[in-house]
Amino acid sequence: MMKAELKKAFHKQINEELYSAYLYAAMVNYFEEQNLAGFATWMRAQTVEELNHANKLISHLHERGAEVKLDAIAKPTSSWKSPLAAIEAAYKHECHISACIDDLYARATKAGDNAAALFLNWFVTEQVEEEASADEVVQKLKLAQNAPGAMFMLDRELGARTPTFPTGAAE
Ligand SMILES: [Fe+2]
Ligand SMILES: [Fe+2]
Repeated sequence: MMKAELKKAFHKQINEELYSAYLYAAMVNYFEEQNLAGFATWMRAQTVEELNHANKLISHLHERGAEVKLDAIAKPTSSWKSPLAAIEAAYKHECHISACIDDLYARATKAGDNAAALFLNWFVTEQVEEEASADEVVQKLKLAQNAPGAMFMLDRELGARTPTFPTGAAE
């Protein structure tokens, strides 16, 4: 059985993941407004991934017989001063989420909840990838932003990303 305090920490993380999806949905809108359809596609895939993360956490609570409490999702920022500023905000947000996951993992370990800690291993690894992929776009955008041809190529490259949907509820 999961301890009440750890359950609350899981609820908080579910909210963080849903907020991430909401923030990235706002970035999809921003990139569409900037006529950067490829960037919008990349961010749309990111939105789906965040929903997957929330669902994974929810499934774990269900599997453990723990209740799920959903809180209100905060309103995200909806405009940025440049595409680079938006992607940098996404990278910064992923660093924040990594800190949240580290905190949740530490709480699971402290509670002696091995099942939760093992489950959260996936998220620890995933955050390494999340930070790296956002940073990769930041670095490419820094190189491309003042060259229209390079921007066109980068937008096309990012537009090739397809979202990955989970194959099962408890995946
Ligand atoms: Fe996430
Ligand atoms: Fe993420």
